[in-house]
Amino acid sequence: MNEITIRRPDDWHLHFRDDAMMRFVVPYTARQFARAIVMPNLTPPVTSAAMAKAYRERIVAAVPDGIDFMPLMTCYLTDNTDADDLAQGFADGVFTAAKLYPAGATTNSDSGVTDVAKIMGVLERMAEIGMPLCVHGEVTSADIDVFDREAVFIDRVLGPLVERLPALRIIFEHITTSEAVQFVDGAGESIGATITPQHLHINRNAMLVGGIRPHAYCLPVAKREAHRLALRKAATSGSAKYFLGTDSAPHTREAKESACGCAGIFNAPFALESYLTVFDEEGALDKFEGFASENGPQFYRLPLNQGTVTLRRAEVRVPDSVDASGSPVVPFHAGETLRWTLV
Ligand code: NCD
Ligand code: ZN
Repeated sequence: MNEITIRRPDDWHLHFRDDAMMRFVVPYTARQFARAIVMPNLTPPVTSAAMAKAYRERIVAAVPDGIDFMPLMTCYLTDNTDADDLAQGFADGVFTAAKLYPAGATTNSDSGVTDVAKIMGVLERMAEIGMPLCVHGEVTSADIDVFDREAVFIDRVLGPLVERLPALRIIFEHITTSEAVQFVDGAGESIGATITPQHLHINRNAMLVGGIRPHAYCLPVAKREAHRLALRKAATSGSAKYFLGTDSAPHTREAKESACGCAGIFNAPFALESYLTVFDEEGALDKFEGFASENGPQFYRLPLNQGTVTLRRAEVRVPDSVDASGSPVVPFHAGETLRWTLV
């Protein structure tokens, strides 16, 4: 097969940032996807419907003319989230979901939730009104090794939460371990998961062998090869529980190449090409449309997109860096050649 045409896909997890960076990155995503779930970890975070509405307007203004793209907004949960504002924002179509960041887990998560017990009332309300919960699934205790944080989160937080609120629809985002795959496979229909391109392509060696490579660093951090293989199997299995979420997270080259480099991989420019390469390598081209375009909307109970996109078997060279109004940003696969090109 030298060409593949699928229903227009969506990105169910990414970071657009704000201001100049946002205006720079939005067109990359709008070129590839019809909709995207936009993360709320700005400074300050998007914690109210009013803030989300204003942020959505700024994003829409950054979409190039003639492209039809819809940002889907999320509310950053804190220990003090107002359940009424959240529910009203959901009813008004401002919020599509709410996002749980365990406090301190990742970039701009300081005001995240310190203990899920503190927001149980909010989560019960979300279960009642059918509002999905996006979860960054890592514990943050200093005594837990960074490579174990996702697996421990399942045991300590996610498992018990699912038992307590079986009706709550939860997206276990950017999963990175075989433990997560096992958990999602064994859970009921209320649990879905997104998988990023980087976690399908790289293991932790990419970050640590032959020198420390900050552009392969994101959170949750890439794990051992066995985990990568489990993720590839899950993504290409045809299971409706898994769907596309790039976690595109741009940081300037300067912020990444530093003594304390930021977590996040900017994969928006060639996201579809990157995913399709994996499905091709796994002999699963027939499963790509479900993963990219159907499973996500079905889980979120949103309509499938109209229209199609086509990718052709043709080489594309990923640039070493792209220029975000004077600040270079290094994209995922920088300097590599991918074998599929978005037409
Ligand atoms: C994200 C960011 O930079 O905002 N970083 C990342 O490594 N993925 C935050 C996140 O999703 O964890
Ligand atoms: Zn993210």
